[in-house]
Amino acid sequence: MDFKAVKLAQSRAYAPYSNFKVGAAILMKDGTIVHGCNVENASYGLSNCAERSALFSLVSQGLNPKDIVSITVIGDTDGPISPCGACRQVMYELLPKDAKVILTNQKGDVLEMTKDSLLPYGFDLKER
Ligand code: THU
Repeated sequence: MDFKAVKLAQSRAYAPYSNFKVGAAILMKDGTIVHGCNVENASYGLSNCAERSALFSLVSQGLNPKDIVSITVIGDTDGPISPCGACRQVMYELLPKDAKVILTNQKGDVLEMTKDSLLPYGFDLKER
């Protein structure tokens, strides 16, 4: 887990409405790190979570989601941060089955999961 990278991502969060800053750092097979943060909006529903910012950035940069090794997520939570349902579905779509989802907080508490443990029986049209 790259604590430094995910804290850098968190420091970039734009969260003037909730004041809850979240960072995500995706590690690729070749060592590349893709950062993501939550980006909020005055029209609250348009806000984007850190996990989805990172994954959408990765795809937009032309990187292959199949090369994802892990995604680490940090928030100022008591225990390891818990990703929202929308992000679980997006991770279900884009992460490889064996990719690690590493959930953490400022204290360094860590919970390691996978897309399947985060979202059992997730929706996937590719498996039809
Ligand atoms: N948020 C994330 O970015 N990721 C999570 O895993 C949980 C929630 C954001 C959305 C919103 O900007 C703020 O945290 C408060 O909900």
